[in-house]
Amino acid sequence: MEKDQKRTPENLEKLEIELLLQGLYSWCGYDYRNYAYNSIKRRIWHRIHAEKLTSITGLLEKVLHDQDCLQRLIADFSINVTEMFRDPLFFLSFREKVVPLLRTYPSIRIWHAGCSTGEEVYSMAMLLHEEGLYEKTKIYATDINSDVLKIAKKLGIFPLEHMRKYTNNYIQAGGKKAFSDYYSVTTNGVKFDPYLTKNVVFAQHNLVMDRSFNEFHVILCRNVLIYFNKSLQEQVHNLFYESLGMFGILGYWDSEIRKRSCIQDWQTVTMPLVRVRNYIKRLNKKSSIECGYIE
Ligand SMILES: C[S@@+](CC[C@H](N)C(=O)[O-])C[C@H]1O[C@@H](n2cnc3c(N)ncnc32)[C@H](O)[C@@H]1O
Repeated sequence: MEKDQKRTPENLEKLEIELLLQGLYSWCGYDYRNYAYNSIKRRIWHRIHAEKLTSITGLLEKVLHDQDCLQRLIADFSINVTEMFRDPLFFLSFREKVVPLLRTYPSIRIWHAGCSTGEEVYSMAMLLHEEGLYEKTKIYATDINSDVLKIAKKLGIFPLEHMRKYTNNYIQAGGKKAFSDYYSVTTNGVKFDPYLTKNVVFAQHNLVMDRSFNEFHVILCRNVLIYFNKSLQEQVHNLFYESLGMFGILGYWDSEIRKRSCIQDWQTVTMPLVRVRNYIKRLNKKSSIECGYIE
């Protein structure tokens, strides 16, 4: 009886989604099993309708036998929305609070995890250039999706119609020059100065399956963890913890961390006016070491 009660349409849908994600993992090597359920469910139904199918199991059958359909589903799972100086006050706070610390280092390594088409990376390169830090910085910009990385690294070309918004963001972020100094207008769009990627390495990296690859002073992972469930967030958070040097800075959206326990031993610094926090790695909770540069 109890078994029958569990046979609801919702539970059947959940089972079919589990089977689909398990199939993608076991047969194709793509691990989306711990992505946030509602978001992945929406994308799956979008693909079912686009393929003119009627069920999740029908989609499973198709992706197992049709490589093109598989790629379309994987593309649906990748949400690449981004912009330059996104959440400008984050960049303003970074400039005011993190840059003074970075000045004290002889060289700087920054990791942008989940960089999408690179707008965030170009923004950081401008900020560091204006603060006189770019020359001693190496930026590692990674994403799971090789297509967005191609756009980020080969072209550096962005749509002209975005420039008005980006210029406003840049000003709010404390930009010190004219934003247009960084680009020229071409027939294909706006081409940013190649200088901005001179110290950038773009590479494919999967936060779910790949390991740490360096030790960083700063890791930024914004608008990525929202797509993961709690256990995956914690796993990725541990990956970042391993990848940060002492006093390293981790920047996420505040709302991206659902499981607070994983950040208890971090000193938390609330950025003014923004829902963004930085987590500063330190020895342990009881450590007397203070980071005097922040408040
Ligand atoms: C919404 S974009 C965020 C881009 C940028 N960080 C920002 O805030 O504007 C999310 C990015 O995370 C990437 N992503 C999703 N899952 C990932 C994973 N497992 N490993 C690495 N990147 C991932 C997606 O491909 C996408 O480019």
